[in-house]
Amino acid sequence: MLILGIETSCDDTSAAVVEDGMTIRSNIISSQIKEHAPFGGIVPEIAARKHVESIGIIVEDALAEAGVSYEDLDAIAVTARHGLLRSIVVGAAAAKSLAYSLDIPLIGVHHIEGHIYSNLIEHGDKLQFPHICLTVSGGHTLLLLVHAINRYELIGRTLDDAAGEVFDKIAKFLDLGFPGGPIIDKLAAQGNPKAFDFPRPMLNSDNSDFSFSGLKTAVIKEIEKQRRAGAEISIPDVAASFQQAVVDVLVTKTIRAAQKYGVSTISVCGGVAANKGLRKAFEERGQSEGLSALYPRIALCTDNGAMIAGLAYYKLQEGVQSDLRLDAHANAPLGALKVQYK
Ligand code: KG4
Ligand code: ZN
Repeated sequence: MLILGIETSCDDTSAAVVEDGMTIRSNIISSQIKEHAPFGGIVPEIAARKHVESIGIIVEDALAEAGVSYEDLDAIAVTARHGLLRSIVVGAAAAKSLAYSLDIPLIGVHHIEGHIYSNLIEHGDKLQFPHICLTVSGGHTLLLLVHAINRYELIGRTLDDAAGEVFDKIAKFLDLGFPGGPIIDKLAAQGNPKAFDFPRPMLNSDNSDFSFSGLKTAVIKEIEKQRRAGAEISIPDVAASFQQAVVDVLVTKTIRAAQKYGVSTISVCGGVAANKGLRKAFEERGQSEGLSALYPRIALCTDNGAMIAGLAYYKLQEGVQSDLRLDAHANAPLGALKVQYK
């Protein structure tokens, strides 16, 4: 079964063709970074306009790369939940018109469910259920106990900024560019993670929640202090020390949650899952605690259509389908459980 997946929830226009939920025939991702970089963050109006401009071409590219035509498609999947509303609307409208004109099923999916699914498409049976999933992105930081595809239990979340958001804000403060995550990741590799002793918020709190805004403030205050004192600041050292603080909290609390719930597999997904320091720390600490930590290839960490098409295959098997009244929501609970999260 061939499903075309469309993902436009934020600033990437993506379309992918996935066969039987697992084989990625194409996964085209068109980044808008150049358009948003001058503003140091995503401008929702620009994002929506760029999606309108690109979506048709990206879909055609995805079909061409997969070597299939519109008539070969069995269903259309689209992100209809969670993200920038005007951006989601563009993908949803495109998906509806395709499903209608081809007379094939339409499946609206939740963006975060797509991220969670990215590890299944990457690892197949190696991803055991139940497992703990850390979803870390520009818009969310969640810890979930995943019982099965479609059955999630929220066990922790950020109480303020998302992890990726803090990477982006620190990079913006330091005038490093946008998005900040990959830039800081690269700089961190050249710096000393012990140069600054930044706080690890909520590291020892009696729950699985996170908080990153205090860390952001501490980093900014430290740089301002050093600047006032006329000190020469090593940006790689700041990047490495900041990244280490984020990594310590994310890894420690995720491992603790796995131990609390008695599961031996951890999956990490979302844009921040691309972070080299985070991946290394999960591998090393996971190994020493007897846990296996899985994450997808980089192209499946950040927003992509393949995770949407793959997930939709399973939804369709379960009889979950949308119709042409499918609506779009910027904020929506995840799965059947009516949980709120960021
Ligand atoms: O999943 P994603 O593409 O979009 C959202 O759903 O938010 O994630 C984007 C976020 C941005 O905040 C970006 O800075 C961060 O992921 N990111 C990284 C890295 N690559 C992307 N953060 C840390 N290290 C990276 N290598
Ligand atoms: Zn995302």
